[in-house]
Formats: sequence, structure tokens, C-alpha cells
Amino acid sequence: MATRINCSFHNSLWLLNPRQAANLRTARFHSRLRLPQSLLFSAPPRAANGALYCTNSSNGSATNDTFVLTTPLYYVNAPPHMGSAYTTIAADAIARFQRLLGKNVIFITGTDEHGEKIATAAGASGSSPREHCDVISQAYKSLWKDLDISYDKFIRTTDPKHEAIVKQFYSRVLAKGDIYRADYEGLYCVNCEEYKDEKDLLENKCCPMHLKPCVQRKEDNYFFALSKYQKPLEDILAQNPEFVQPSFRLNEVQSWIKGGLKDFSISRASVDWGIPVPNDEKQTIYVWFDALLGYISALSEVNEQPDLQLAVSSGWPASLHLIGKDILRFHAVYWPAMLMSADLNLPKMVFGHGFLTKDGMKMGKSLGNTIEPNDLVQRFGSDAVRYFFLREVEFGSDGDYSEDRFINIVNAHLANTIGNLLNRTLGLLKKNCQSTLVADSAVAAEGFALKEKVESLVKSARSHYENLSLSSACEAILEIGNAGNSYIDERAPWSLFKQGGPASEAAAKDLVIVLEAMRIIAVALGPVSPCLCLRIYEQLGYSEDQFNALTWTDTKWGGLKQGQVMAQPKPVFARIEIQTGDESEDKVASKSSKKKLKEAA
Ligand code: MSP
Repeated sequence: MATRINCSFHNSLWLLNPRQAANLRTARFHSRLRLPQSLLFSAPPRAANGALYCTNSSNGSATNDTFVLTTPLYYVNAPPHMGSAYTTIAADAIARFQRLLGKNVIFITGTDEHGEKIATAAGASGSSPREHCDVISQAYKSLWKDLDISYDKFIRTTDPKHEAIVKQFYSRVLAKGDIYRADYEGLYCVNCEEYKDEKDLLENKCCPMHLKPCVQRKEDNYFFALSKYQKPLEDILAQNPEFVQPSFRLNEVQSWIKGGLKDFSISRASVDWGIPVPNDEKQTIYVWFDALLGYISALSEVNEQPDLQLAVSSGWPASLHLIGKDILRFHAVYWPAMLMSADLNLPKMVFGHGFLTKDGMKMGKSLGNTIEPNDLVQRFGSDAVRYFFLREVEFGSDGDYSEDRFINIVNAHLANTIGNLLNRTLGLLKKNCQSTLVADSAVAAEGFALKEKVESLVKSARSHYENLSLSSACEAILEIGNAGNSYIDERAPWSLFKQGGPASEAAAKDLVIVLEAMRIIAVALGPVSPCLCLRIYEQLGYSEDQFNALTWTDTKWGGLKQGQVMAQPKPVFARIEIQTGDESEDKVASKSSKKKLKEAA
């Protein structure tokens, strides 16, 4: 954090009415005397609907049936990379799972378009900031399309409705007496868009995240009185430890707060590319103060007048903010304090996941060590990319990417365990039963342990999804595939068919059992690899509309009925072939998998 060198509340008092100005003077007085915070605030109450800090009914509207989920709003200094795609893929899987549970999901994503970093990037590319933002924001949208991201709202922080809502929020916080003017001097990391404490920097004052030197800055800024919220934040975290997830990140947040919260600067005199501070056009609002409000402005309806209160009443508070661990302080400390200042409810949970790394370093735009998600999707398809990152990286921890591992995992799990099992079972059904089921799956499974095994795996998959343990959810679902493979190998229906009579009848029932397990996989894995699961479902004789109407209840054993006719067997997932020789492995993998996927489609 920077050093505040000259604090002058009265500079901004002309913006306020007399009552507000009196409040502000009181706040200043308190902070000068360093009164124990407990004397200034009482613990915030907890609302009946589970939202935190609810003081009246107008500061939030989300019901238990609503699930509002956000990704960070991505900086548009450069096109998306796999690190940015990772959060969004995870968010999409959670959104799809919540929809299966019947929740009214509002899945929010978008782009963070103001600030020095973006203006510099635009200058470097020879475009105006606006043109630059249009191009990169569009690149995000088109990647989300290619990755089958089912967002409901895409907010751009340059959207006029967002700007209007930010100004309204700023005015509320000002009226609360939580904004004052002061001189500021400190070390600034442009890539983090944050002042840093010198003790947290590496040699040569380098930012540990971006490995670039921070620059000394001195500015006359408006400040947010974060220190006023120290006690309320401590209380909230003590009373709602689940607010920060995974639980091991809570200690970190608590120790930041315990270390003493310093007011932070929320305007920039030196940055033009931003939202002007109300009543002081010479300054723009700090990019983080602006961007966090995108989570609320995104809720405002398209044709409605931009209004903070209306937006809040359309779904606030968020049920879950999904973020990377590097931006936890903004979400678990600054943001709740800002919301309290504006008398708005706090989100119910902030989940800070780990980093995708390359050679142990955080993959990122600033370090330039990124993996191209477009390239991965082009070569391997969205289902494989989504599955790999959700299955391989334990959600919450870091994970390193390797192409060999990617190909091995995807081939073993999606092509072999799932795709191959379906294909060979349908092949046998076609050959021996005219692709028609001979019995209801509930009847066929009587007396076989596989049904109970699948039921227990579905139960654990659900609870893993609910706990955001996405990798474990994938693992449980894949276990259904493993169980199906073991079952068919043990029963060997191909031999039973040859025997004819009752053996052949039993074999026909075995196929029903395996196909019912496949149907359940298609429902349960849908949040992770939706297109693959649709293809499985269509192979089982259902339509796309039927797939889209599924709910989690459809994971119950017994969906497939006697007489259901399966489609012509077709591979649902193309194995990625790696050949050695003159052609590079990458090229062969690319050609082979794209060709097969086309055939499978
Ligand atoms: N604009 C801010 C967020 C504002 S939210 C109101 C920002 N943008 S960012 O583009 O730099 O990062 C967005 C998200 O991507 C962060 O959650 C960050 O952790 C995540 N990731 C960026 N690189 C990442 C990896 N290498 N691995 C995983 N996630 C990473 O911060």
C-alpha cells in the first residue's frame, strides 16, 4: 500500500450536503483518534435468506431458487488465454449443474475495459481505447461461444448503463461519508492496477506476480474509508467462515484484515480512460472500484433505465463469485466493505481457485507464457478442453498443463471408458436386438449390483458438484463408466448371444443395463462436457429437446424403457491419434481429431 501523505477531507466537502459533510467530519475524527473499531460499528446482522449484511428488504432480491454466479470481468489488455478460460469453464459447469437442480440461474461474465493498462495496450496496438475494447471484448465472446459457455449476461464496463450505476454507487458511498480526498504516494503495479507495500515486492521493487518493477506514483486522489469496515469484516468472517472458499484461503483473508486495513485510493488523476468521478471530471474512478460493480450492473435489464436499486432488485446478492486467488483481496475485503458502505447485501460466497501454470509460473498475458485456448479448442474440441481442465486440476489448487497428459487423459476417459463402451454396446444391440431395448432398465437391473453402485456414484457426484469439487465430480461419473466396462467384460454378452435361449435373453438385458448407465453418465457429465453428452443422449434415441429438458432427477436409475430404439452406432468422441514421423505430433493430432470429430458430429 502507498503512503498517504496529506489527507484533506474538506477538499471534497463541497460535493456534499451539510448532513453528509458532518458525517464525513465525524468519520475523519474517528480515524484520527484511532478509536477501537468496535465502538464505531456493531456486528452486521445476517439476513433470513442467507445473504450477509441485510439491513432492509430493498438491498437484494435473490430467492432460494435463484443462483447468481459470476466470473471475474476480464481485462481486455490482450485476448483471452487458457487461464481466463479456466474460470469461465468452471463457472459454466457450475451454472449448468445448478440449472439441472432447477435453479433460476443468472450466469454473469464480461470484460473490464477501463484503466491505464487498457489505454496503454490500445495505444500499443495503434487503436483508440474504444476500438481496442470492442475487438478484445468480441474475442472473449467468440471464445465463450466456441467453449459452449452458457452465460446469461455479458457486461462490458464501458457500457453506458454500467457507467451510470457506478456513478450512483459512488454517490451513495460519498453520502455515507466514506470518501475523502488526500495526497497519495507509493509504488504502483500497472499490471495489477494496484498500489503495493514495499515489503511485498521482490528485488528492484518488482511485483511478485508480474515480475516487473513497480513505479513510484504521487497523486491527489479520492479515498475509500476501508479502515472503518475492519471490525464489521472481522465479524462477518467470524460468523460466516464459509464466505471465503476453499476454506484454506480464509486464514489468508483474516490475516490481511487483522494486519490492519488501510483506506485505498479510488480515483486516478493521471488516467483519462475511465468513468469520471461525479462532480470532479479531472479524475476517473479507479478501475477496480468500477469493475466490481459490473456484478450488479449486469443484472439491469436491457431496456430498463440504468438504476442501481433496480439492478439490485433483479437478483442481487450473488450466490457465488468465482475468481482466481490473485484477486481474492479485492473480492473478500474491498468489495464487501464497499457493499456495506452502500447498504447492500454481500455475496454469499467467494471462491478463489488456483492458477494454471506453465513451468511453475502463473500463465498470464503479462508474462507472455500463455496457452491459446482457441488453438486447443480447434484441435481437440470444446468437450475435451473442458473435461481436461476440470478433471485434472483440483478446483482450488494450481495445476500445470502438459499436452501429453491432456491427450492421455482425454483418450483414456472420454474416448475409451465412455465413448468406446457406448459404441460397442450399441454395436451388440444392433446386431442382436435390432437396436431395440428388450426390457425396462429398472426391471433388467433387478438382482445386479451395478444399479446400486451407479446410484451411490451419482449421489457422490452431486455432492461434489455442490461443494464445487469439480474434479471429484468428474471422477465419480467416470467411475460409472469404469463400472459399466467391468460389468460388460465380466458378463461377456457377445458369448451369451452365441449360446441363444435364456443366455441370449440375459445378454439383451445386460445391454439395457449398460446403456442405462451410459444415459446416467450423459445427464451427470452434461455440466462438464455438454456437447459430448448430447451426442451420447442422441445415440440412446433421444432428441436434443429432450436433452435440454433434463434435470438432475433424471440421474435416477430407470429412465430407459422397453421398446426404446437406439440410433445407428456412431463414435461420440474421436480418439486423438499421435503419430511420430515426418509430420509433427501436433499437426497429426490436429488433423486426426478434427477429422474424426467431424465424422462423429
Ligand atoms: N479485471 C480483473 C477482474 C475484475 S473482476 C470485477 C482481472 N482480470 S484478469 O483478466 O487479469 O484476470 C481475470 C481472472 O483470470 C482472474 O480470476 C485471474 O485469477 C484469472 N486468471 C488469469 N490467469 C490465470 C491463470 N494462469 N490460471 C487461472 N486463472 C488465472 O483480474
